[in-house]
Amino acid sequence: MKETLATKVSKRKTFAIISHPDAGKTTITEQLLLLGGAIRQAGTVKGKKSGKFAKSDWMEIEKQRGISVTSSVMQVDYAGHQINIVDTPGHEDFSEDTYRTLMAVDSAVMVIDSAKGIEPQTKKLFKVCRMRGIPIFTFINKMDRDGQEPMDLIAELEEVLEIDAYPMNWPMGMGKTFQGIYDIYNNRVELMHPEQNGDNDFLPLNEEGEIVGDFPITTSSIYTQAMEDVLLLKEAGNPFSEEAIAEGELTPVFFGSALTGFGVHTFLDAYVDFAPSPGPNKTEEGETILPSKEELTGFIFKIQANMNPAHRDRIAFLRICSGEFKPGMDVTISRTKKKMKLGHTTQFMADSRESVESAVAGDIIGLYDTGNLQIGDTLFEGKDAVQFEALPQFTPELFMKVTPKNVMKQKSFYKGIQQLVQEGAIQFYKTYHTEEFILGAVGQLQFEVFQYRLLNEYNSEVEMTPMGTKIARWIEPDDLNPNMSSSRNLLCRDRFDQPVFLFENQFAMRWFEDKYPDVKLTALL
Ligand code: G4P
Repeated sequence: MKETLATKVSKRKTFAIISHPDAGKTTITEQLLLLGGAIRQAGTVKGKKSGKFAKSDWMEIEKQRGISVTSSVMQVDYAGHQINIVDTPGHEDFSEDTYRTLMAVDSAVMVIDSAKGIEPQTKKLFKVCRMRGIPIFTFINKMDRDGQEPMDLIAELEEVLEIDAYPMNWPMGMGKTFQGIYDIYNNRVELMHPEQNGDNDFLPLNEEGEIVGDFPITTSSIYTQAMEDVLLLKEAGNPFSEEAIAEGELTPVFFGSALTGFGVHTFLDAYVDFAPSPGPNKTEEGETILPSKEELTGFIFKIQANMNPAHRDRIAFLRICSGEFKPGMDVTISRTKKKMKLGHTTQFMADSRESVESAVAGDIIGLYDTGNLQIGDTLFEGKDAVQFEALPQFTPELFMKVTPKNVMKQKSFYKGIQQLVQEGAIQFYKTYHTEEFILGAVGQLQFEVFQYRLLNEYNSEVEMTPMGTKIARWIEPDDLNPNMSSSRNLLCRDRFDQPVFLFENQFAMRWFEDKYPDVKLTALL
């Protein structure tokens, strides 16, 4: 029987992993791909130490540095669901793309290193997910190593991120003494060492929460401690609420060890139970587009240029919001009203790029583009024009002054800057008084990619002078008074000509606020 669009969409689960570098994002992704049969052995996604590169490492600069700039999308079929894992560039390649990727997913998985707790990058990414109100699932990783006490980790999570937590399972020991997890959700114990317990991976619990039967684990103080902790959690912890999970107010917490694959299966089973399938999207006019709407709609959240330096192609990543993609179909770009044939598309896998045969709401496809598309563009099929709400812009934290090395090549310098800024690769400002060019970025790598691409694509060599970290705050044009500018609060204009101050530090900003109490300072996200 042919599946209806609504059935197909209901099987989609699209998420991104948010974490700090080294928490285990790659390792857990690999385990998920293994479980879904998408890869056959671990080590396929990333081989940075062996010098092999995943196919997602297209750009030359990626190869040089052995990191992945590209947000690729990996698909896993699991228990009747199609799971789309959208990669969020981490490490030194943290950038605005990382944030924007979170606009294209329906839930997030937060991976935390049990020894390190909540780290800065996790916090930043978490904020964006929180703003969107999407469900956040927490996996506390590396339980095979000694880490912080689980109670402390839960308390830190709740305090630092201001979200309620509900442990779905609880670790029995950690490091060398790690015995497995006491699985509250599935009412069982999952054993790290089945061979010591009659070759059972799982042992069921009775109504009192005790293991049924006589096994060596039942005499272990680590097991009794976990049982006591769980009793305490049941009495004093947050109640389980599916609704609160759906609204992103309560995060279900899982413990495990991605490296040994322990706890990942259990996590994934619960994830598919609670993660949402694609929901409605809002248009600029406040209308709601349901994913089951027959006509295709979607938005571009990322553009990756030069994946293949030989062809200079750009790939625009489209998050489908409604309808179904069919090869060769016609769509309209809402911003320009231009028609476009979706002929040449691609889907992403850990180890190959394949042509897309079918994709529906919730899926992400790559469109080959020759320069017609921009980040934030809406595409729609048919006559009913749709324009989705604008993607948020993110406040950059790092700044560089930029000038062309060769004054004879001003034209290509301007053209390059204009196009790369439009593409969303970097943010651009001009000082108010002297019209010097300043670039703003969320991550250092954005500058390097910018410099590399300007040279390779526009033949323009640039001089970049670091200005370091600054706090960017926008003001209302009516409040603008050029005399407010100084070296510690530099007045600039952004690319839309809006006035913005770059403050040296918090102190400079507070000084400004005291001096001009009527001027409202606004941050982007
Ligand atoms: P990332 O993508 O979040 O940056 O992290 P990644 O998965 O690359 O993991 C970072 C390091 O942590 C890797 O070790 C990885 O093997 C290790 N790791 C991940 N999960 C676990 C776990 O559950 N337990 C333990 N003990 N280690 C874990 P590495 O030595 O830096 O790299 P590699 O040589 O293993 O690739």
